[in-house]
Amino acid sequence: MAASTIFSDCSSSATARLLPFRKIRSSALFFRHSSISLHPTAPSHRKSSSAIVPLAMTTETSAKVIDGKLVSKQIRDEITSEISRMKDAIGVVPGLAVILVGARKDSQTYVRNKKKACEAVGITSYEVHLPEDCTEEEVLKSILGFNKDPSVHGILVQLPLPRHMNEENILNAVCIEKDVDGFHPLNVGRLAMRGREPLFVPCTPKGCIELLHRCGVDIKGKRAVVIGRSNIVGMPAALLLQRQNATVTIVHSYTNNPEEITRQADIVISAAGVANMVRGDWIKPGAVVIDVGINPVDDSESPRGYRLVGDVCYEEACKVASAITPVPGGVGPMTIAMLLSNTLHSAKTLHNFK
Ligand code: GUN
Repeated sequence: MAASTIFSDCSSSATARLLPFRKIRSSALFFRHSSISLHPTAPSHRKSSSAIVPLAMTTETSAKVIDGKLVSKQIRDEITSEISRMKDAIGVVPGLAVILVGARKDSQTYVRNKKKACEAVGITSYEVHLPEDCTEEEVLKSILGFNKDPSVHGILVQLPLPRHMNEENILNAVCIEKDVDGFHPLNVGRLAMRGREPLFVPCTPKGCIELLHRCGVDIKGKRAVVIGRSNIVGMPAALLLQRQNATVTIVHSYTNNPEEITRQADIVISAAGVANMVRGDWIKPGAVVIDVGINPVDDSESPRGYRLVGDVCYEEACKVASAITPVPGGVGPMTIAMLLSNTLHSAKTLHNFK
C-alpha cells in the first residue's frame, strides 16, 4: 500500500478511521495469555517477544489480548515513511510544541515520552517548561508564539495545569489548525455535532477506536459503555463511539448499578482511573474491553515499589471477554501514536501536501 494512501482518511475527516487497514491478519494484533492465579492486582499477561504466545504454553483459552504496542509500532512506522516522503518532496518536517507547566512527575514522564516518540519518527519537537508558579499570561504568550511559528504544526499543553490557571482560557488560545490534542472547544463542539467535522480528535479516545478498527471489531450497532466522563478521555470516547453508530451509555460516579449497565455492553471503554474497579462479573461474555486506566498500586516486589494496573481486573475480565487490552501495553502506546498522526496530519494540511 502506498504510504500516501495510508493517512488519507485524516484529510477528509479527523474522526474517520485513521488509516485503511493494512493487509495483515487482525489476529496478528492479538496474543493469547496463559491463565494465572486470581489476584486483583497481580500482573497477568506474560511478556512475549512475538505477538502471539503459542497456545501450547497456555493453560486456559480465554480473551485475545489486544497488543497496543504492536499496533502503535505499525502506525509509527507508517508515520515515519510518510514524514520522509514529505521531507523529500517539499523539504518540510512536522513540528510539535509541548508546553509543560510545573513539575508533576507523571506529566514530566508523558512529555519526555512524547518527545522521544517525535524524534523516532522524524518530528521536530519544541519544548517549553514553565515553573508551577508562572502566570497564565506566560503560558498564553508561549502559545501565541507557537501559533505564529510556521515550523510548528501542533501545539500541546500538558494537562492538568496548576490550579491557579484557567484551563479553558489556555486551551482556547491554541489555534484550531494546530490543536493536535483536539481540546479546543470548537473541535470538541464539532465532535459532538452531527454533520460537523473536528479538525482533530483527542488522542487517547482516538487510539481506542483505532485499536478496535485495526483488530477487526465492528462498532456499528453495538452497545458500548464508557466508564468515566473526563474531558480528555471519557466524554470524547463516547462521542466517537456514537459517531461510529454504537449505542452509547456513559457510566460515572453517580451511576446506579454500574455493573449491571456495563454488563450489557458489547464494547467497554474504561477510563475511570480506579485500579481494578471493573470486575469480571461486570463484563458480558464475549465483550471487547478497552482499558484506559493507568493506576499505580503498591508492589514491594517491584524495584519502584509500585506497578501500574488498569481499571479492569484483568485476571477476571480476560476469562469473560473475547478481547482485552493489557495495562501497560494496550491503550498507552496508542495515545502517543495518535499524537504523532495528528501532528503529521496538521503539517500536511498546513502545507497542502497530499
Ligand atoms: N494529560 C493526560 N492526558 C493528556 C493528553 O492526552 N493531552 C494532554 N495535553 N494532557 C494530558
